[in-house]
Amino acid sequence: MTAENVTDSGRQRTLADGNQIPLLGLGVWQVSDGRACEDAVRWALESGYRHIDTAQAYGNEASVGRALRDSGLPREDVFVTTKFYPGHRDPVAEVQRSLERLGLDFVDLYIIHWPQGGPTWAWEGMQRARQLGHARSIGVSNFGAAEIEAVFEVADVPPVVDQVQFSPFEHRRGVQEACERRGVALEAYSPLGTGRHLGDREVGRIAERLGRTPAQVLIRWSIQHGLVVLPKSTHRERIAQNAQVFDFELSDDEMTALDALDRTGGTARALERPWW
Ligand code: A2P
Repeated sequence: MTAENVTDSGRQRTLADGNQIPLLGLGVWQVSDGRACEDAVRWALESGYRHIDTAQAYGNEASVGRALRDSGLPREDVFVTTKFYPGHRDPVAEVQRSLERLGLDFVDLYIIHWPQGGPTWAWEGMQRARQLGHARSIGVSNFGAAEIEAVFEVADVPPVVDQVQFSPFEHRRGVQEACERRGVALEAYSPLGTGRHLGDREVGRIAERLGRTPAQVLIRWSIQHGLVVLPKSTHRERIAQNAQVFDFELSDDEMTALDALDRTGGTARALERPWW
């Protein structure tokens, strides 16, 4: 737990570079560009989310940008992340294209989507993107403990975030510990196991006892671990439900029971099988 970094009634955390990040964000992976994505982002902003997580590879940055503009919210009120697609060569040129699609002057966070071609080659370009003001913070995604260490060895400006697949069932303690050692904030993607974990019996038992939904229990578990958590939904009522996670608490026993669901053996790897 990194409670000392958590501020604003437990809703934000301070990154190692001093910037603030809301713990809850809407993930828009696998949300189609156009109406579906615009609606999801609009409903999220209406439900109080102030953090949207997109990527060059998702193909929906333009929709995210439109929904942000339509919301009328001040730019500084919403934390926007995009990710460098590492099939391309130049993080600076690619973030400039992202900013055009998003219609923004900068993103709050720019991260390498996965360590294709090795963990370090793109880091200089990421630092340059930050230096040019295109990104306030920079980080990585799908990097395991050894890959994080490799970046730290070459970095002038170290990564402040590692976004990995993380849930009670993918409780990668080795990655979590590496992040804590280096002051890197861990961001949990697929916190609901892309929906697969919602039917688990133990999760259901805890949800029933608390009068909450399985999704809320899984999201709350990440928050109580001090993690940033990025549930995805395209349904208005679910988007709203997933944000109602700051008005209840899991007991120590419930956290321990959820921790015990890990199927990764507490791995230091970001994924069991890389797809690239
Ligand atoms: P949908 O987008 O149709 O609402 P993850 O965040 O782990 O990637 O999980 C996303 C999946 O879980 C999506 O299929 C999403 O469906 C579903 N989902 C998200 N929130 C809820 C919820 N509160 N209740 C039930 N299913 C949900």
